[in-house]
Amino acid sequence: MGNALETAVAGLALRHPVMNASGILGYLPEHADTMASWRVSAIVSKTFTREPREGYDPPIVVKLGYGGLLNAVGLSNPGIAGLGPFVRSAKKYGIPVIVSVGGGSAVELIDVAAAAEEAGSSAVELNMSCPHFEGGGLELGRDPTIVSSVVREVSSVLRIPVIVKLGVSDKLVDSAARALEAGARALTLINTVRGMAIDVYSLRPVLSRVYGGLSGRPVHPVAVWAVYSVYRETSADIIGVGGVFTWRDAAELIVAGSRAIQVGTALVYRGPGVVARIVEGLRSWLRQIGRASLRDVVGAAHKR
Ligand SMILES: Cc1cc2nc3c(=O)[nH]c(=O)nc-3n(C[C@H](O)[C@H](O)[C@H](O)COP(=O)(O)O)c2cc1C
Repeated sequence: MGNALETAVAGLALRHPVMNASGILGYLPEHADTMASWRVSAIVSKTFTREPREGYDPPIVVKLGYGGLLNAVGLSNPGIAGLGPFVRSAKKYGIPVIVSVGGGSAVELIDVAAAAEEAGSSAVELNMSCPHFEGGGLELGRDPTIVSSVVREVSSVLRIPVIVKLGVSDKLVDSAARALEAGARALTLINTVRGMAIDVYSLRPVLSRVYGGLSGRPVHPVAVWAVYSVYRETSADIIGVGGVFTWRDAAELIVAGSRAIQVGTALVYRGPGVVARIVEGLRSWLRQIGRASLRDVVGAAHKR
């Protein structure tokens, strides 16, 4: 019998649909070993930028009571110099390696993406939630015109597939369509959602940077909406991410239009076994609903 969970995104063949989300673990070669031990179908790196970045002062990650995390990590990473060792370590597992690429301009993104290709990565995931250098700090992904020009420039110089990761914004569907038009082979939806927590005893914001990115259970319905609305307009290859804790959350994103999904915050709350549990849960769900293959149910919520 074939493998019912086989899938593909951006031309990458995947044994099953569950990858890790960027950034939950770091950028060191041994982190790639840990990610592989989670039984993911592809390894996704933390975002690399061209130059090393320090990150912010603690506290940078706060666990909220209801399956949420608030983080302001500040994209700390060793820069391009750390990229090669990570990719070489990840490649020994024989599964696709996706390098998350960050930067504030097309030139910077191209430099990092080219280094990822050179190091042997299978695809890049452009993190469009980075602030735009010339755009007054506005997230790149919030402006469909910037998305279009940046993605066109990056995809014109790369041979490996470009996956574009977008956060939620009122221009999401437009940005997604422009990214695809400009050469993106797939979309990853969504990044964290802006949030804040206050300590009512110290009367101060909890995070040193005041605002942060909310992830985990509270953002799941936002991710389902994002995937559903982008798939409806584009039928694109989508990697759904946001608050996947159980196989049911993953199944929801798949039926909304995702060909693969990523798991981030659940690894913090549920531990490393969560990926294998989601994969097995998806397998029995397909049997329960009488479907032979995951491909049959991608985007099924759109069919009447
Ligand atoms: C601590 C932490 C660090 C993150 N770092 C990155 C990053 O470097 N690049 C990126 O694209 N997304 C980053 N994210 C966002 C996740 O990849 C994901 O899009 C988001 O957390 C929603 O998924 P989740 O609810 O499963 O965590 C980070 C999230 C967390 C919680």
